[in-house]
Amino acid sequence: MTVSASRPVRVVGVSSGKGGAGKTNVCVNLGVALSRLGQRVTLLDADLGLANVDVLLGLKPTHTLEHVLKGECGLADVLVETAGGLRIVPAASGVHEMAALGPQGQAAIISAFSALAGSMDTLLVDTAAGISSDVLGFLAATQDILVVVCNEPTSITDGYALIKVLNQTHGIDRFRVVVNMVGPGESGKAVFEKLNRVTERFLDVCLDYSGAIPMDPQLRKAVSRQRAVVDAFPSSESARAFDALARRVQTWPLPSGPRGNLEFFLESLVGDGAPAGAEAG
Ligand SMILES: Nc1ncnc2c1ncn2[C@@H]1O[C@H](COP(=O)(O)OP(=O)(O)OP(=O)(O)O)[C@@H](O)[C@H]1O
Ligand SMILES: [Mg+2]
Repeated sequence: MTVSASRPVRVVGVSSGKGGAGKTNVCVNLGVALSRLGQRVTLLDADLGLANVDVLLGLKPTHTLEHVLKGECGLADVLVETAGGLRIVPAASGVHEMAALGPQGQAAIISAFSALAGSMDTLLVDTAAGISSDVLGFLAATQDILVVVCNEPTSITDGYALIKVLNQTHGIDRFRVVVNMVGPGESGKAVFEKLNRVTERFLDVCLDYSGAIPMDPQLRKAVSRQRAVVDAFPSSESARAFDALARRVQTWPLPSGPRGNLEFFLESLVGDGAPAGAEAG
């Protein structure tokens, strides 16, 4: 079942603070899983200096966001279709000026997406590690922020730092959390509670638990084959967890209006042009 083109696009930013928490794997596998549920999904690789998504999927794009920003082609020209119909907007790799985009470059990319609104139901935004202004700006331009954490003190503290800075700089007060690399006998919910306790104590934000992805050797095997685990090993533990995450994401309310930041598909969130269903949520 494909959702009508007139509905607002669901925009999910994926971040972690700490590097290597599994952001790109969450994006790619969630993207493929949502595509299989009938969603038209686009994944923006917003790790602009060190493109991850195309490497993870073994893609060799000829054109990237760098060419879009230089005016050499349009956003639609760089889209690459991959497993299950997931479409990727690839980033450049090793291009210094893309690593620090700045507000203007970021605004150019965000507004370029407006032309593609009718062709997607969900936009996933994979961000770089850290809390640079580019990372914060991309996340503030999404409607749902999914923070990926693992059961390591540095992952929890970096996740907390990301949430704190987004709250202070952009007024964001609601975050969703997925716990990745949960070992045998460990509880994802318990890891979430560690983060939740500290945010409840020191910040005025609300965290929603979005589930857990197990530590899974099959996922590593899929990575080495440059495939999404949901595609290469659909019955593996992590693939089933990504399927469950995708079903949960589909139940999240669609955006009801703008938040006051520069946002993806802003024109569909404000004023007369608001599409049918924009009041949902
Ligand atoms: N659920 C998992 N089970 C086993 N290994 C995992 C899992 N999730 C991630 N990994 C391992 O961690 C590595 C890093 O994952 P990934 O590239 O998705 O992280 P990232 O947060 O995007 O990293 P970066 O900050 O560099 O962008 C993967 O290549 C894989 O080897
Ligand atoms: Mg990554």
